[in-house]
Order: sequence, then structure tokens, then C-alpha cells
Amino acid sequence: MDVIHSVPELRERLRREPDNVFVPTMGNLHEGHIALMRVAKPRAACTVVSIFVNRLQFGPRDDFDRYPRTLQTDCDKLREAGVDVVFVPDEKAIYPEPQTYVVEPSDLQNILEGEHRPGHFSGVATVVLKLFNLVMPHSAIFGKKDYQQYLVLRDMVHQFALPIEIIPADTVRAPDGLALSSRNGYLSATERSEAPRLHRVLEEVRAELAAGTHDYQRLELHGMSVLADKGWKPDYVAVRRRADLQPPVNGERELVVLAAARLGKTRLIDNVEVDRPAAGGAG
Ligand code: PAF
Repeated sequence: MDVIHSVPELRERLRREPDNVFVPTMGNLHEGHIALMRVAKPRAACTVVSIFVNRLQFGPRDDFDRYPRTLQTDCDKLREAGVDVVFVPDEKAIYPEPQTYVVEPSDLQNILEGEHRPGHFSGVATVVLKLFNLVMPHSAIFGKKDYQQYLVLRDMVHQFALPIEIIPADTVRAPDGLALSSRNGYLSATERSEAPRLHRVLEEVRAELAAGTHDYQRLELHGMSVLADKGWKPDYVAVRRRADLQPPVNGERELVVLAAARLGKTRLIDNVEVDRPAAGGAG
């Protein structure tokens, strides 16, 4: 496995490997990331991973400075997963001058996560476009845990006609249901045992939707109040259309339930996809 820090070196290495699949990350890798590598590996001769903590996507109140940097253990895990190239640029390599040209995603960037993290998706889209231009993969893998991020990037690739297939990968969960995330490491022992409630709340909403309930607002408010009663500070529990994260109109079948809530100082997000029954049902 080659660990590469500079852009010229990366270009030189990948000139010999045009058949490459890409997994961008911010490091601090866990089993959820390794699952992305498993999705990637069979798709190309060369699997490329980037590790770059992207300042542009962090807000002033976010955890950029305390975001864990664990390069050595990350590289050990990637080597074991059979990754071929790891690109670890420093900030100058990615943003050699102030980045004044940025990607502004559609209105999708302003709802849900975007409402609570202004500028976040512009920062994500800008760095991913830049990484795509450096790596020039034919496919790239993104976890569905960050569902809105996946849709923003899928739409970016479509609208800019980039010759890259965006492949979503399923969320990996701990046995108690908690979605794996680098931020789980911030939880105290008590918070860690409370944290799976987020997924349980989503599962309850999913069960009601699958049984045919149409009263989305009641389900959302109930989910929020279950969390608040247990000491969480929920930002949203939202039932949305999978295609564009807009509120569903009755009869729509492909839905996703998304939630974000703060537990102590840690903000967790999660979602579950729901396929509603074809017709009829309660509600
Ligand atoms: O999902 C992430 O880890 C980041 O948002 C990404 C896609 C690597 C961009 O910095």
C-alpha cells in the first residue's frame, strides 16, 4: 500500500492505475469505513482512499480541532483491508491559496443537516469535487449514514456531468443498533448506553410507516419528544422522500426517516429507509 502526501506523487502513481475506485474519508477509521472498502475493492484494480479533515465543512461551533487524527492506526486498518493507495494531503496541498471558488449545492443544502450546519454541504461538495479532480476515479463510495451528503454528491456529479458513479453503501451498526461513527468516541459510558435510542426511535417510526400511517407530523413530534424526555436535544426527526428529501405526499412509497440529536456534547445523526405498502392502510 502506498501512502502519498503530495499531489504530483499522487498523479504519477495513478497515471499507471486508471481503473480506480475512490473512498474519501476524514480518517479515524472504524468498521463502518472498512465496510466501504469492501464495497469498493471488487469494483476496480486499484482502491484509493483519502484521509483529509476538511476545515471547509466544519462550522465555528463544530469539532474541527478536536476531530481525532489517527493516521498510523488508520493506515494499519487500510493495509489490512487491501487498499492500494492512501492519499493524505496536508491543508496546503488541497487549498494552496484561499479557496475562493466553491461548489454551492441546490436548496438541498439548506434543509435538515444544512439548516443546523450552514455551509457544511458547500464545504463537503467543494472538497469532494477537488479530490475527484485529483484522483479521477470511475466510481466513488459514500455511506448512507450521511444520507443527505450522499444525495448532495450524487446530484453534484449529475449536474456537472462528472464521469463518476456514486455508489451508496449501507450503514454499519453496533449490535445494539447504534450507527458506527467517529463521533461515538466522544460519548461517556452512560451516554454510550443511551445512544442506541436514536435508532430505536427511527425503527418505531419506520414500523408505523410500513403499517400504513400517513400522519408524518405526529410521528416526527412523537420521536422528538421520546428523545427529549430522555435528555437528548433533538434537532429533527423527519419523514422524507428518498429521492430528494422533500416532505412526502400521501401515496409515496420510498421514504427515509432521518434524525439528528445532541446527547451531552455529542451530536449524532442516523436514518432508516422505509418502503411503504402499495396502497390502503391506516392513518
Ligand atoms: O463523510 C466524510 O467523511 C466527509 O464528509 C468527506 C466525504 C470525506 C468529505 O470531507
